[in-house]
Amino acid sequence: MNRKIGLIYGDGIGPEIVREAKKVLDAVCAKYGHTFTYERLLLGGESIDANGYPLTDETVAAAKTCDAVLMGSIGGDAKTSPWYQLEPSRRPEAGLLGIRKALGLFANLRPAYLYHELRAACPLHESIIGEEGFDMIIVRELTGGLYFGARKTELVDGVMTATDTLTYNENEIRRIARRAFEIACKRRKKVTSVDKANVLDSSRLWRKVVTEVSADYPEVALEHMLVDNCAMQLVRDPKQFDVILTENMFGDILSDEASMVTGSIGMLSSASLNETSFGLYEPSHGSAPDIAGTNQANPIATILSAAMMLRFSLDLDREADAVEAAVQKALSDGYRTGDIWSEGCIRLTTTEMGDRIAGAV
Ligand code: IPM
Ligand code: MG
Repeated sequence: MNRKIGLIYGDGIGPEIVREAKKVLDAVCAKYGHTFTYERLLLGGESIDANGYPLTDETVAAAKTCDAVLMGSIGGDAKTSPWYQLEPSRRPEAGLLGIRKALGLFANLRPAYLYHELRAACPLHESIIGEEGFDMIIVRELTGGLYFGARKTELVDGVMTATDTLTYNENEIRRIARRAFEIACKRRKKVTSVDKANVLDSSRLWRKVVTEVSADYPEVALEHMLVDNCAMQLVRDPKQFDVILTENMFGDILSDEASMVTGSIGMLSSASLNETSFGLYEPSHGSAPDIAGTNQANPIATILSAAMMLRFSLDLDREADAVEAAVQKALSDGYRTGDIWSEGCIRLTTTEMGDRIAGAV
């Protein structure tokens, strides 16, 4: 099968980890007889350096000609990088928010699970992890809410005042809720919808619409949870979660927390999807400018994001299974990058880990 994939190498460790994911995709193509063509797209700091802006119309137009886009990570060190001297709308992060909006990528899926082999890296107590560990997916609304509402900073009666607005309409809530319930149907059939309905109007509407949508999925259990409680439950008893459904900012925060409790943020993938099969796939972690260019980064999150791309955008389930199995084999064989290394394991560089996984495919 012929498919076109956009590649955003991005900033920091981005180029190193995307290179390894592409190596694994090349192995998939060789084994299963597919041809992928790649188009390089600029986003974030790399785009600022080339064009002065973190996202251009050209990148959006080119992304639209692709079946899917695989990306590394964007952004630099806010203290030292000249990108952060620019006004906020021209910094790397604005490019990422912009491409999500321009491509209508409203559904952000962030799996967070504990690998049996990496239990030692989990910061939670044994009694919390239990025998079976935990396995959840955060379904984050990605193109609404506070990150996309009007904002301003101004003098009000001589006092500097900043305002951000948090708006959701029922259609935005309904479409992300449907995604969450559909995903739950293929998992353990539980949705925890997270909001702040004791304070916010947007959360009260969220709760009402999610409850309405749940009527179409009688086999899925729905519970509502306040976001502050959820932050606490994630470290108290993460096993209780299957699908966490939430709005943009809560999802941003809770997904970082969930990835940390797995102890292996370098392992976690993500997908941002629109109404069609198109998606943007990126690791859940950031661009780690401190280790950029040193061949130490863990490429597994990006490789697993490529597996999600095979599954969700290219409809290649068997191939996605093969990539996931290859990652599992590398771990079972004791191979680790520095971030997940522990006594008795074999420490690999970024490129060596890519070689291992591509070889196992
Ligand atoms: C993420 C990131 C982004 C977000 C930033 C870089 C704008 O934190 O993907 O979670 O907040 O969505
Ligand atoms: Mg984030």
